[in-house]
Amino acid sequence: VSLKPYNTFGIDVRASKFIKIQSIEDLKKILRKTYAEELFILGGGSNMLLTGDIHKTVLQIDLKGKEVVEEKNDYVIIKAHAGENWHEFVLWTLEQNFGGLENLSLIPGNVGTSPIQNIGAYGVELKDNFVSCEAINIQTLESRTFTLEDCDFGYRNSVFKNKLKGQYIITSVNFKLSSKNHQLKMDYGAIRTELEALESPTIKDISNAVIKIRESKLPNPAEIGNSGSFFKNPVISAEAFNNLQKQFPEIPSYPISATEVKVPAGWLIDQSGLKGYRDGDAGVHKKQALVLVNYGNASGSDILMLSIKVREVVKEKFGIDLEPEVNII
Ligand code: EPU
Repeated sequence: VSLKPYNTFGIDVRASKFIKIQSIEDLKKILRKTYAEELFILGGGSNMLLTGDIHKTVLQIDLKGKEVVEEKNDYVIIKAHAGENWHEFVLWTLEQNFGGLENLSLIPGNVGTSPIQNIGAYGVELKDNFVSCEAINIQTLESRTFTLEDCDFGYRNSVFKNKLKGQYIITSVNFKLSSKNHQLKMDYGAIRTELEALESPTIKDISNAVIKIRESKLPNPAEIGNSGSFFKNPVISAEAFNNLQKQFPEIPSYPISATEVKVPAGWLIDQSGLKGYRDGDAGVHKKQALVLVNYGNASGSDILMLSIKVREVVKEKFGIDLEPEVNII
């Protein structure tokens, strides 16, 4: 089976076996008869770079459904199953007038993989509305509930990327969303600018603004293969940052703590002259240098080689090591 339709980079590699999982019972049945090492778990395929054929059984988690599990005076708890498309889920919450996820509109991928890297954009992270998730242990088949604390969320990070990497399959996620008195998050300059003309913006307006901003600089995976930000924004010491600032006075930054500063990788790559760079079908996106793209027939290795070149050039110019955000497989 070709995995091209199942990864947003559009890389054409093959899987020995491919199974869509549509019920927990089916999932358990397969886990019972297959060794963990012979399985490869796939969600929306939106945060991975496949560099070779997968000689394993690929399980595509396609569990569907979303429901209100609790209704209080001013908030609701919503349970969404892992196979729900993230953006469609966000739009559904907005149709019900539930607030909290609007800033996370148009992020590719599925609900079930959203906690793994604590997806985030425009001043909001998944963890801000996360209550818990249900997961199944691949070895023991035990079901476990992970609370916010258990997940140990960080910037594009969680326990599922670290201590428990590859050990659990997330089957559903519970979110706490406001049902009245929505808190609009408009700290992000571009959103504020978009909404300036509106007297009392709504959560739907924020979503529309985010969609507009994302569409203006991020490539649509349906048209040009990509996995969003390829690298994390690096965190460097305040001392290193001060030195860089002397050389590059216009360098943007976000303070992290008294001793650490985050700098946008997109800016570093852009200033290295690589924005829009193309080698065959592998390229650095023209409008956002943080995104690597597949113009059609790039292989996973082509993209990987390009990412190595980007890291080398940035390291040479700024002395900063960029760390990939996507999982390289
Ligand atoms: N910049 C450039 N040139 C570029 C790209 C960016 O100079 O080619 C500068 C911008 O002018 C701005 C700064 O870098 O001053 C930051 O750019 P932007 O606001 O576009 O955000 P980002 O830091 O590049 C992060 C997330 C995105 C998220 C946006 C908005 C990471 C790794 N990326 O990008 O997340 O949508 O902020 O919140 O944290 C993703 O994870 O896949 C993703 C797209």
